[in-house]
Amino acid sequence: MITQNTALFTIFGATGDLAHRKLYPSLFRLYKKGFIKDNFAVIGTARRDWSDEHFREVVLDSIKDLIEDKEDAVSFAAHFYYIAHNVNDSEHYVKLKVLSESLDAKYSLSGNRIFYLAMSPEFFGIIAEKLKEQKLITEDGFNRLIIEKPFGRDFESADALNTKLRKSFDENQIFRIDHYLGKEMVQNISAVRFSNMIFESLWNNKYIDNVQITLSETVGVEERGAYYDNNGALRDMVQNHILQIVALLVMEPPLSLQGEDVRSEKIKALRSLRLYKTPEEVNRNFIRAQYAGNPAKALQAYREEPNVDPASSTETFVAGKILVDNFRWKGVPFYIRTGKQMASKETYIHIQFKHVSMNIFPTEGVDEIAEPNVLTIHVSPLEGFSLRLNAKRVGQGTEMKNIRMHHIYDEETQANSPEAYERLLLDCLNGDPTNFSHWDEVAQSWHFVDEIRKVWDAQEDCTDTLFAYESHSMGPKESDALLEQDGFSWTEFNWSQSYKEKQENE
Ligand code: BG6
Repeated sequence: MITQNTALFTIFGATGDLAHRKLYPSLFRLYKKGFIKDNFAVIGTARRDWSDEHFREVVLDSIKDLIEDKEDAVSFAAHFYYIAHNVNDSEHYVKLKVLSESLDAKYSLSGNRIFYLAMSPEFFGIIAEKLKEQKLITEDGFNRLIIEKPFGRDFESADALNTKLRKSFDENQIFRIDHYLGKEMVQNISAVRFSNMIFESLWNNKYIDNVQITLSETVGVEERGAYYDNNGALRDMVQNHILQIVALLVMEPPLSLQGEDVRSEKIKALRSLRLYKTPEEVNRNFIRAQYAGNPAKALQAYREEPNVDPASSTETFVAGKILVDNFRWKGVPFYIRTGKQMASKETYIHIQFKHVSMNIFPTEGVDEIAEPNVLTIHVSPLEGFSLRLNAKRVGQGTEMKNIRMHHIYDEETQANSPEAYERLLLDCLNGDPTNFSHWDEVAQSWHFVDEIRKVWDAQEDCTDTLFAYESHSMGPKESDALLEQDGFSWTEFNWSQSYKEKQENE
């Protein structure tokens, strides 16, 4: 059953790209499905001087691909109001308060407020402070703060930001977005783990050989050079998205799916990751690289990108081996890699099981040992699972064949499945913190990442530790070597491609 929600959304950064690409379309989807209907309003605020009319046009433009009924879309946009705002100026919060109160009365919003900070992180602290100081936080309804990444750039700055936010909001009012937690297949990790005996019983170091997590992108840093050069792939992708995925794969079964229960298991999981402290440990287990461009394909090298320091040592690719020091996982490497300008835009997780103790089906010269079973969780663009198994080739003899079983959601199911931001906005409306990052998770993730950063940042001459990779490749050879030293290799199925071709041929 669909319950209509009641809230005033105040979006800081309303003229920005995130609001346009994600927030307005997600609100519209919630509106079309009836999760918000009559009792909601949105205040957009940013520095630019826009009128309500202009704001509504922008909103209509952002949802143009989703409109089925023009009148409905116009009624939706009529709930949007704009107010120009200088986040440092108390006077503006007074105006914001007046508008908030009038909208509260007009739409019967019961004092429920969601403040969405979709702007530069340097302003997060001051906005939270002023919201409290100028009494925009209501006494009668709920008050929730949604905050975009990056949450700090190391533990210290994250802790300082958290301390500021906590002066105005309690932990249970703060919703730290990690949009990967809103993805269908990331949410499905727990479902597949905990509701299938064949996986639940094998989910440990006795049966799993290694785990591989890939988040590859084909785009370069595009117009985000200034942000990116100051952060790099380790902060941009590993500290949040990848470590959240690791936590979901590693955690013990939670008591229930309630936010508190899941979070406490995730926190324990993150605490069990081994911290690499010495340069030797870091260099042995983590490698970094930059894309070198490809003139033939008109691809620029990272250092030639706009707003990037031509001598930059910021990494656009990271591969690493994460070790989990607990009873269940001791000895199982979790290999991770992510990068810009790689060969494909894909996110997938391979769970590679151990070999059977003896292969009684060897094919002379080919299969000395049976291929391992691999469970793949396809996060995007394909969504679904596949399982690699060994079976006998049809016909006489005992020759083996490696087969794949799959369950990939079809395009229609994928298209109808809620988008990550839509899910997360609805979770926030419902006050459900499960798919947001708790402060303790963020803090622990920074502890892990900071140790690596410290070693990298101390390497003034990084000729030997910052590698180059060809654009549109799967990273530098050092990333392969990371697995080879343990007797493994990246399992390259090229699944999306072969699946697409198969579909086209059918
Ligand atoms: C963001 C990063 O958090 O995630 C971006 O800041 C990256 O650099 C993006 O491109 C990737 O998200 P997705 O959903 O496209 O895989």
